[in-house]
Amino acid sequence: MKIGILSAGGDCPGINAAIRGVGKTAIVRYGMEVVGISNGFSGLVNMDTIPLTEELLSGILTMGGTILGTSRLKPFKPSAGETVADKPQIIRNNYEALGLDALVCIGGNGTQKTANLLAKEGLNIIGIPKTIDNDVWGTDVTFGFDSALCITTDAIDRLHSTANSHKRVMVIEVMGHHAGWIALYSGMAAGGDIILIPELKYDLDVVTNYLLERNHKGKPYSIVVVAEGIKNKKSKESAASYISDKIEKMTGLETRETILGYVQRGGSPSPQDRILATRYGAYATELIHNKQFSTMVSLKNNQITSVPLDEVGGKLRLVEPTDNMIKKGTSLGICFGIK
Ligand code: F6P
Repeated sequence: MKIGILSAGGDCPGINAAIRGVGKTAIVRYGMEVVGISNGFSGLVNMDTIPLTEELLSGILTMGGTILGTSRLKPFKPSAGETVADKPQIIRNNYEALGLDALVCIGGNGTQKTANLLAKEGLNIIGIPKTIDNDVWGTDVTFGFDSALCITTDAIDRLHSTANSHKRVMVIEVMGHHAGWIALYSGMAAGGDIILIPELKYDLDVVTNYLLERNHKGKPYSIVVVAEGIKNKKSKESAASYISDKIEKMTGLETRETILGYVQRGGSPSPQDRILATRYGAYATELIHNKQFSTMVSLKNNQITSVPLDEVGGKLRLVEPTDNMIKKGTSLGICFGIK
């Protein structure tokens, strides 16, 4: 059999471990041929490929980013002068021309949505859930999340000493456009006093009164962890600058902000992500061998399994207001910005 692999959407640590898991299982266990598709779905449109040999796959387990490159091209979203069928038709033709028996799509929500549409066009598709946001429906966790958590937790740890030296309120913005998993988990791991996530509509009065109360009790500083997705979509201002400006104006407490940005997606994957990505990749090849297509590999109660792509496509796994971590955090006295 000949299988193609692509990585699409935002990059993250662990993609290369997943590519290696798919490729080595395919070559070593099943004697399959493996083709890398460059830059996400655009590589399928432009027939931009690279043969993935065992030599090429060795040494990439610990490498950040993706050796194949990625893009956010959405083939079912026509460009000017195109019909919606144009790019999918080109992809179908190139899939055939490459002689592919299956295609592995490594990506987040948008990628799995496209993967599902291509499966409906008759391509043999397997999805692998990847994103630092951890918001892909159908799996307990995506690889990339743990590596981002290590980075954000370390960053927040570092803010405590400088906040304490200056007796300041420190606001740190982490990634998470729709879902607040990174803010919630790193806030809990690094002793955040306030954690604001897109899923819980915060009240500025609750936030500022909580900070004044802490100050009144003699607490020397406070750490506020916010997900980028809490920002007002209409405003150009970042969540961190908006919140820190409001806090300083409404409380009189000296406040500074940090926007962590793309470092959360950089560097070598954590051991947890290396293992998870490898397990996902290896299982994706098992599914291909067993011809169980139109599925996405997933982790459920720490078991590697798979879910129909139809159930996943375009859905988000958001933090529920009743999430246990929110209950635990609240009982510890952490403020989530709500009454
Ligand atoms: O999807 C992962 C992610 O890092 C989000 O957390 C972030 O909002 C987005 O990608 C940034 O997208 P881009 O890399 O296209 O700027």
